Amino acid sequence: MKNTEIDTSWTFTNTVTLADFIRKNELQVGASGNLSSVILRIALATKIVSRGVNRAGLASMMGLAGEVNVQGEEQAKLDIYADKVFSSTLGRSGYFLSMVSEEREELWPAKKGSETSHYVIAFDPVDGSSNIDVNVSIGTVWGIYRRISDGSNVDPNDTSDFLQPGKNQVAAGYTIYGSSTMFVYSTGHGTHGFTLDPTIGEFILTNPQMEMPQDGNIYSCNEGNYHGWSEGVKQYVDTLKDPSKHASGNTHSARYVGSLVADFHRTVLKGGIFMYPGDKKNPNGKLRLLYECAPMAFLAENSGGRASNGNSSISDLVPTDIHARTPLFIGSTKMVEEVEKSIREHGGD
Ligand code: AHG
Ligand code: MN
Ligand code: MN
Repeated sequence: MKNTEIDTSWTFTNTVTLADFIRKNELQVGASGNLSSVILRIALATKIVSRGVNRAGLASMMGLAGEVNVQGEEQAKLDIYADKVFSSTLGRSGYFLSMVSEEREELWPAKKGSETSHYVIAFDPVDGSSNIDVNVSIGTVWGIYRRISDGSNVDPNDTSDFLQPGKNQVAAGYTIYGSSTMFVYSTGHGTHGFTLDPTIGEFILTNPQMEMPQDGNIYSCNEGNYHGWSEGVKQYVDTLKDPSKHASGNTHSARYVGSLVADFHRTVLKGGIFMYPGDKKNPNGKLRLLYECAPMAFLAENSGGRASNGNSSISDLVPTDIHARTPLFIGSTKMVEEVEKSIREHGGD
């Protein structure tokens, strides 16, 4: 190579980092800049969690911590680790008045000096915990609201800032710790995906303006719960398994990872429907509205998809409490509308 030719491939000339993208978008939507800094802070927290996830086997971070959380679920060591990373990285940012975590019973105030913060954040530090020890993709989910309280005092019993419909979110996102680590978020102007380049520690834009296919042939649900589902859900799933019963006559494939983030991420990219219905034992299903379903619904709608509790849009639901659960049907609009129709016609409980 003549010495005048410099190998510029390393300069990432066409690379757009998360910070570049946010700044460019911020100018377009005339944002204050606060929200941009918040999203970059969340991205930092998930990079730290990603490092923890990738080292879990080496740093004896696998397995259970021996504690049970407010959900009555056994906590994995990584659940607690990721909860601490998020609460410390975000709690000291000065951007949040208070925070809710799946792993903590009550909301808690961000560090002192956050009284003037505009936002509150709810997050699921590790989603898909049952998959940690078997090296299957897991994730982190978060949703941000503008606070509605006057912020004068953050009383752990005053959850009013969080009892808002998902459509009030100013931003939502997830990070999936899979074959690569991806950061996916929306501020209401499309859903965009970034892939972590660990060699430079940057999230690089790889999936701008993600568009969920309007229809699909993949269904994702835990069929071990089939007998507890409503007639409407059962009849819909039966049509997916028997082409002669489905209007399209098409066959469908079943895919179920058991981590909402992974099942949702595939659904955004390939189309399909993810379902966690209520059943006789748990009429409201298993997934939590505030920090699992509402953020995913926000992302689904910003990529052209739909999210429902079987009767109405997830984004219109107001949580009754910070850990309230809801049935979830999310994915390609046509498929979600099909299951809602089946529930109307054959019964939903
Ligand atoms: P979490 O690990 O945060 O408790 O979430 C697990 C959830 C969700 O990720 C997944 O879709 C669902 O649990 C799977 O539940 P089942 O194992 O009952 O199918
Ligand atoms: Mn979860
Ligand atoms: Mn979790």
